[in-house]
Amino acid sequence: MIELRNISKEYRTGKISVQALNDIELDIRKGEFVAIRGPSGSGKSTLMNLIGCLDRPTEGTYILDGVRVDEMEEDELAAVRNRKIGFVFQTFNLINTQTALENVELPLLYAGMRRTRDASLKALEEVGLSGRLKHRPSELSGGESQRVAIARAIVLDPSIILADEPTGNLDTRTGEEIMEVFNLLNDKGTTIILVTHEHSIAGHARRQINLLDGAVVSDTGEGNAT
Ligand SMILES: Nc1ncnc2c1ncn2[C@@H]1O[C@H](COP(=O)(O)OP(=O)(O)OP(=O)(O)O)[C@@H](O)[C@H]1O
Ligand SMILES: [Mg+2]
Repeated sequence: MIELRNISKEYRTGKISVQALNDIELDIRKGEFVAIRGPSGSGKSTLMNLIGCLDRPTEGTYILDGVRVDEMEEDELAAVRNRKIGFVFQTFNLINTQTALENVELPLLYAGMRRTRDASLKALEEVGLSGRLKHRPSELSGGESQRVAIARAIVLDPSIILADEPTGNLDTRTGEEIMEVFNLLNDKGTTIILVTHEHSIAGHARRQINLLDGAVVSDTGEGNAT
């Protein structure tokens, strides 16, 4: 479903240019559970941003579900993103003044839907958080906050979830619980791609990809075992 061909990404700030990704070739199939690892600055977040249609490559071809997205304009890209991809972040990125339920309803409201309650309740139930609907982020634990963020990511029923260091702000045990939530979603067929520094967290994924200096240096995926 995800096909990256000769993908490169160069950032330019004034006269300085950084080659963040260098000639990446990568296929990720529907239903895979992939962990991306690599040292700081190796290009992990850049790769996630490209896969998530938040940014475009400077070179190369990106085909998502048979459609070329690397040449799309921003509004088309946003439409693809809203339809297919859910994002989870290290710092949860919840709205502090809104309740758990309201946070999960937001993507539905942005998508112009009027009936937001049932889908939001279902998403919160899926992440095991039906008992905290009226709590605001300040009244939730880190693990609970991340569950709300995952519910928000799945409420529009995306086929892909992208998570950049989703357990980075959590203790080991809570991190493991969050990984159980991702495991359940993957069992239901959702493609999961996550960035992590932690070996134990990466162990939950069925495929591990290592980046170094913007290139794939190892990939345990089928046909690529290293
Ligand atoms: N918006 C940007 N403008 C300019 N340079 C950038 C930008 N984003 C990232 N870079 C540079 O691109 C390289 C890759 O950055 P990236 O954020 O993808 O690394 P990372 O692997 O996610 O690192 P970390 O583990 O610290 O999150 C780095 O050298 C970084 O400085
Ligand atoms: Mg990063």
